[in-house]
Amino acid sequence: MRKPLIVGNWKMYQTTAQAVALVERLRALLAEIAGVDVVVCPPFTAIQVVAETLQGSRIVLGAQNMHWEGEGAYTGEVSPVMLTDLGCHYVILGHSERRQYFGETDLNINRKVRAALRHHLAPILCVGETFAEREEGRTFPVVEGQLRGGLSDIPPQAGEGTVVAYEPVWAIGTGHTATPEQAATVHAFIRKQLGELWGEAAGLAVRILYGGSVKPDNIDALMAEPDIDGVLVGGASLKPDAFARIVHFEKVHR
Ligand code: PGA
Repeated sequence: MRKPLIVGNWKMYQTTAQAVALVERLRALLAEIAGVDVVVCPPFTAIQVVAETLQGSRIVLGAQNMHWEGEGAYTGEVSPVMLTDLGCHYVILGHSERRQYFGETDLNINRKVRAALRHHLAPILCVGETFAEREEGRTFPVVEGQLRGGLSDIPPQAGEGTVVAYEPVWAIGTGHTATPEQAATVHAFIRKQLGELWGEAAGLAVRILYGGSVKPDNIDALMAEPDIDGVLVGGASLKPDAFARIVHFEKVHR
């Protein structure tokens, strides 16, 4: 019922020429994808060339961040209108790197999530605890706070299409993937919270991704968990063969 979703987060990598080369290779490797949604999120500067290179492909475009206003005097920012204009369908919001290095708060992330939904962009709301928070036994309250903060004031119908990504901060870019069991426990917790927030049916419809050192050698075990509906991939999304193998998890399972 929930279609698997594999998202590549390119972060601050790839010039336009590199982006075109990467996506041309991906296009060839993923020519026959079916039964799975595949999204790539280039840096803003490469979105347009990637959109052009992906014409006619089933790979979909996303962005890594945005402002909550449609336009305005916000030097250095990019708006949801600009993203839809370039053909984006998804936007990553509240990534831990944005929370950590750019001071993003649940309040502003919530403004962005609501703006994305208004502009028909599917928000990928990132939540996740740090290593210290996990050690202190605070994983659930931290995740609950980020989830309820990010989704505040959004009625269930308006929230349709929202994606949640569980990304334990200690697993991002470290090679220390959460075990499938650790991830599944938090995913089940998120599913329960969504049910409380939006009702059981709407909660069951939300795709919950896992992110943090996802690679070809751990994708199959992660995707075998019933509450893991897909993955948000950083480092491995810059390597076409690795990313294609991650997308092809389905061939192993079905
Ligand atoms: P990683 O990054 O796959 O390099 O750990 C994931 C992310 O930050 O979304």
